[in-house]
This record gives sequence, structure tokens and C-alpha cells, in this order.
Amino acid sequence: MEHTEDVIRARRSVRTFDGKPLSPSDLESLSAFAEQIDNPYGIPVEFRFLDATKQKLPCPIVTGTNHFVGGKVRKVPHMEEAFGYTMETLVLYAQSLGIGSVWIGGTMDRPAFEQAMELTGEERMPCMSPLGYPATKRSIKETMMRKAIHADSRELFASLFFDGSFGKPLTREKACQLAVPLEMVRLAPSAVNRQPWRVVVTERAAHFYLKHTKGFVSQPVGDMQKIDVGIALCHFDLCAQERKIPAQFTVHNPGLQTDPDTEYIGSYLLS
Ligand SMILES: Cc1cc2nc3c(=O)[nH]c(=O)nc-3n(C[C@H](O)[C@H](O)[C@H](O)COP(=O)(O)O)c2cc1C
Repeated sequence: MEHTEDVIRARRSVRTFDGKPLSPSDLESLSAFAEQIDNPYGIPVEFRFLDATKQKLPCPIVTGTNHFVGGKVRKVPHMEEAFGYTMETLVLYAQSLGIGSVWIGGTMDRPAFEQAMELTGEERMPCMSPLGYPATKRSIKETMMRKAIHADSRELFASLFFDGSFGKPLTREKACQLAVPLEMVRLAPSAVNRQPWRVVVTERAAHFYLKHTKGFVSQPVGDMQKIDVGIALCHFDLCAQERKIPAQFTVHNPGLQTDPDTEYIGSYLLS
């Protein structure tokens, strides 16, 4: 894969594709890659590559491709974070091959996709994505949707990341070697572009939190905002690895949160 940082900066959700099927070699590369992705929780996530025409899978927000990938995971604690991390690794790999995608957790015919994924009673398919080559111009529907949710903007660095405690905003200068990995978190995709991730950086660790958006209810298929934080962990981790910043994942609440809407997710220990 090219530099993760470049891939993350280039990625945008794609809902409008150019109508060409994926080449056999791209499909082969994607499915081979999908089989060996790991996540910090060690929770297995299985991907299936689906054909919307053959398998009758309606997804009206997407045009110009029949290729979809769904992921499934057993319903266990932390399944959402593990799912978010794993599927985002696949999304970034696809992007590095010039293949567009968009996380879809809501706007689909869920029963049809779940049937195509052959879920057992214990499994969940929180999200899926189309895959294909991006069209040169977005559909009007997609353009309007992006505008409505301000898909191109992100919160300020100092509103998302904190210096030692939640009361103190972190500057890029103070973040030092973590400035770029945190910037990669900032650019991550999230459900309805809510960007619910928060990070408190101390001398020894980067602690990740979920700031729940009011009225955003957790679905039986999984809490979309925990998936968002899983995606953020992926961006941080891949970027830290590439920059050879030693960062080890652990779930051990340091007890820093002050707001009842903010939930501890996990930490990268820095050594
Ligand atoms: C967990 C998750 C669920 C999403 N669900 C949908 C969806 O159901 N339909 C859709 O069109 N976009 C969906 N999105 C895409 C977001 O709207 C998109 O990532 C966000 O607006 C930021 O835009 P960008 O990805 O182009 O940076 C979802 C994203 C995430 C991370």
C-alpha cells in the first residue's frame, strides 16, 4: 500500500461509480487482502464480496456498480470497534488501488444484505460498502446528501484532542510526533459525519473516547458511533506504525472523563 497518510488524505466516500466492473485482478487483490486483516481486539471479521444484480440487493443511494462488500462479526463486547478498525483497513487498501467505497450502515435494504451475508443467529453485519471505480462527477443525490451533512468539513484539532485532561485543548505543536496520527483521526469518515472521537494525550498514552451524539441510538446491529471510533483507532494505528512510533493498544480506563456522554474506548500506550 502507498503511504497511509496520502491514502487517508485522498479518501472520500464514493456513491457514484463509472459503471465498469472491477477488474478480476483488483477483485482478487481485495479478497486476498480482506482475509488477512487483523484488529487490536483479535475479534474475527469476515468479509463477503457480493453481486447486487445476481443477489438482488437494492441500495438506491449507490449508482454505477454491482460490487458490494459486507462484513460480519460475532456479537461480542467490542465487536463494533473491531469491525470499524478492520473494515476501514480494507477501505484504505481499496483506496490505494483506486477503488472507491462508502461505509453504509443505514441507507440499504438491510434484510436483503443480511440474507446475502448468510448471518447465523450470533452474527451481525453492522455495515457494508459498494466497491468500484469512481465516476468523474457525483450524482445530484450524492452531492445534495454531502452538502446536507457537511461531509467535507471536520471539527477543529483543538476541539477533538486534549492535553492531559478534557479541559485543556491540544495544539499540533504540543502533540509533537502524534500531530500527524491525530490529524489522520480527524480526517476519518463517521456516520452522518458526527466525528464522535475524542483523544486525551498524556506523556505516556493516547486515550480514545466516544462522545455520544444526543439522539443517536445504538442499533441492535451495533452502535454506529463505536464503529466510528474503531475507524479512528485504525487511522491512528496505521499511521503510527508507518512512522515507527511505538504504540501498544490496551483497554484500561484511566478515569479521565468528566462528561457522562463521553465513554472510554481504549488507549495506545507510547513508550
Ligand atoms: C459507520 C458509518 C456508517 C455510515 N452510514 C452511511 C449510510 O448509511 N449511508 C451513506 O450514504 N453514508 C454513510 N456513511 C458515510 C458518511 O456519511 C461519510 O463518511 C461522512 O459524511 C464523511 O464523508 P467522507 O467519507 O466523504 O469523508 C457512514 C459512515 C460511517 C463511518
